[in-house]
Amino acid sequence: MDTKWDAQKYTKDFSFVHQYGNDVLKLIEIKPHFSALDLGCGNGALTKQLSAMGLHAMGMDASAELLEVAHRQYPDFQFFHGDATDFMLPAKVDIIFSNAVFHWIKKEKQLQMLQCVYRALNDKGQFVFEFGGSGNNALIHQALKVAFQEQGLSYQMPFYFPTIGEYASLLEQAGFKVTYAVLFDRLTTLNGPNGLSDWIQMFIKDPFASIEAERRKKLIQRTTEQVRDTLYHEKKWYADYVRIRMKAIKPTTR
Ligand code: BEZ
Repeated sequence: MDTKWDAQKYTKDFSFVHQYGNDVLKLIEIKPHFSALDLGCGNGALTKQLSAMGLHAMGMDASAELLEVAHRQYPDFQFFHGDATDFMLPAKVDIIFSNAVFHWIKKEKQLQMLQCVYRALNDKGQFVFEFGGSGNNALIHQALKVAFQEQGLSYQMPFYFPTIGEYASLLEQAGFKVTYAVLFDRLTTLNGPNGLSDWIQMFIKDPFASIEAERRKKLIQRTTEQVRDTLYHEKKWYADYVRIRMKAIKPTTR
């Protein structure tokens, strides 16, 4: 997860990412003195929410740009730099929370990440998260694939969007007990008249890495053209999000 973020634009135009995260927080059971880690905290907006719920909250992220925003906006909180697939906390926590992060982690690294989370939790610790599930942005990625193919290029979808079955199995392999799982559609309004084109430029980096600017522009134009009938209504662009939301518990060790 070494994506470089335009932290200002992310915070201004893509705030729906953390706004939707508020719903996931409701799965957390709070007790006095509980501690929480916001894994992939980004600009810290949800770390602040965790704290407002009465938790001793801290945030970790792999992006220096987003952590800088988090530090600036919430100077009283503890934020630190770290890789979700390879981290160790100075002390175990009661809750690990994560929103809109795990689809950035390669499939082959997921188990390693879950093992890190498991080690970082106290017994009976709660692991609560949401990210892109099976079928997430399928219309957009299909349109990108066609646009790339028309130009003689190949489009490799750069994210991990699992089914509930697949992810529950990984959680169990890591030692967790899965207590809650849902997969649901969430058609999401994008900001501005070029909402989808801006979204593609913000989030789809790797497939465009070696493509020069003019060709990149054409590919994005061709992509938006294909989905205009389905993802553009009454002057607003939408993204066909699918979320996987789960809760898992670290069983008591004997
Ligand atoms: C998501 O939150 O599902 C997502 C956002 C950007 C790129 C891929 C997935």
